[in-house]
Amino acid sequence: MFPKNSYINRRKRLREEIGSGLILFPGNSESAFNYPDNTYTFRQDSAFSYFFGLDHPDFVGVMDIESGTDYIYGNNVDLDDIIWMGPQPSVAEQAASVGVENTAPLPELEGFLKSAIAKGRKVHYLPPYRGETMIQLEQWLGIHHKLLKQSVSLELINAVVKLRSVKDDMEIADIEKMVDVAYLMHTTAMKMAYPGIKEQEISGTIEGISLAYGGPVSFPIILSVNGQTLHNHKHNNYIKTGQLLVVDAGAESELHYASDITRTCPVGGKFNQRQKEVYEIVLAANMSTLETTKPGRPYRDSHFVACETIAQGLKDIGLMKGDVKEAVANGAHAMFMPHGLGHMLGMDVHDMEGIGQIYVGYDNEFRPSEQFGTAFLRIGRRVQPGFVLTNEPGIYFIPELIDLWRSEGKFKDFINYEKLETYKDFGGIRIEDDILVTETGCRVLGKPIPKTVAEVEAIMAR
Ligand code: GLY
Ligand code: MN
Repeated sequence: MFPKNSYINRRKRLREEIGSGLILFPGNSESAFNYPDNTYTFRQDSAFSYFFGLDHPDFVGVMDIESGTDYIYGNNVDLDDIIWMGPQPSVAEQAASVGVENTAPLPELEGFLKSAIAKGRKVHYLPPYRGETMIQLEQWLGIHHKLLKQSVSLELINAVVKLRSVKDDMEIADIEKMVDVAYLMHTTAMKMAYPGIKEQEISGTIEGISLAYGGPVSFPIILSVNGQTLHNHKHNNYIKTGQLLVVDAGAESELHYASDITRTCPVGGKFNQRQKEVYEIVLAANMSTLETTKPGRPYRDSHFVACETIAQGLKDIGLMKGDVKEAVANGAHAMFMPHGLGHMLGMDVHDMEGIGQIYVGYDNEFRPSEQFGTAFLRIGRRVQPGFVLTNEPGIYFIPELIDLWRSEGKFKDFINYEKLETYKDFGGIRIEDDILVTETGCRVLGKPIPKTVAEVEAIMAR
């Protein structure tokens, strides 16, 4: 855990943002895998973890704004638990470690909340995303589970997003450590990417590296020679020379901070000419973000500069045509890059996405786009020092999309369908780093992971 004072300060700052009432942070419960006692690895809720730090199931954090009192509701273990799990610190001892002096058994929470509601006090809570939490909230607050989302506290959402968006030095150091674990994962994948190996052997090995040096992977590994499928979790291909292997993988720390890195390498260790040409375009787009991203500048600008870099590069090799800015403004580049440039990164890989992307990535000044491609940009608003973001441009050749748009004659003034037809077997390329917005610009976090054609080929040759 972070030092006790971090949690005390975070709660103090949250208190300053919320006018009145009670704030309720339900921690997560164990979640059954295939029968009740066989559970998934326990993962604490990120908001609970941010303000209360404790990695324990069935704890609930409560903050009383008017009185300034914080509580942990939870049950002490009994002898049965001790026999199976060994001795455990009491709820009070655990709460004290994060600066909370008041604890009570979980069954008392319902009465506490109901009496507050009866007195007309507001109970602030964030949008729930697990069924178990919805059932609890329905019971504690008397709000039907289908109506819970309508009654969430916008005030709390905005306050939590405000605090969690800006990472402090300890959080940044933790993310950076996980990028260093990702360095090991990705360089290992590159060294293993030789013809005849099954994708599963590589993904299993790098998942093991995450577990050995960090914690669980921060999201299910994406690893495929069919990199044109953006989130390809199938790992059943035997890989062949001439294919490109896209690996999108990161690790989660004990404190739950994530890394999220993508590299693309040529099976067998050498890019062919066609692959090199497209790779250089994606790399140029990735590098453009480092120039564009600065405090006060919207991330949507970085997204569009990267998209224009891609459109220009594709025009240079004859796959796009016409005016580059006009092509991007109309969304023609989305044939090749149908996703956004990146997202916030923190305790969640898509940081705070459970709270609502609209509040995390957008505001009154910057509203989400409805245009295919840019609609998937998860953050468009102005960035600030302390924001950690992913920078993940890509170029993909999706046969189904090529066929559809070609049959519709869509963007035929910007896309050279004749030539594109010959790229349907190409796959995809994505290059993703995690960047920190600094006072003057931004920097890539962690130990540099081989990225240029020469660097990737050199590590694969080892
Ligand atoms: N790394 C997965 C994603 O960004 O969606
Ligand atoms: Mn990502």
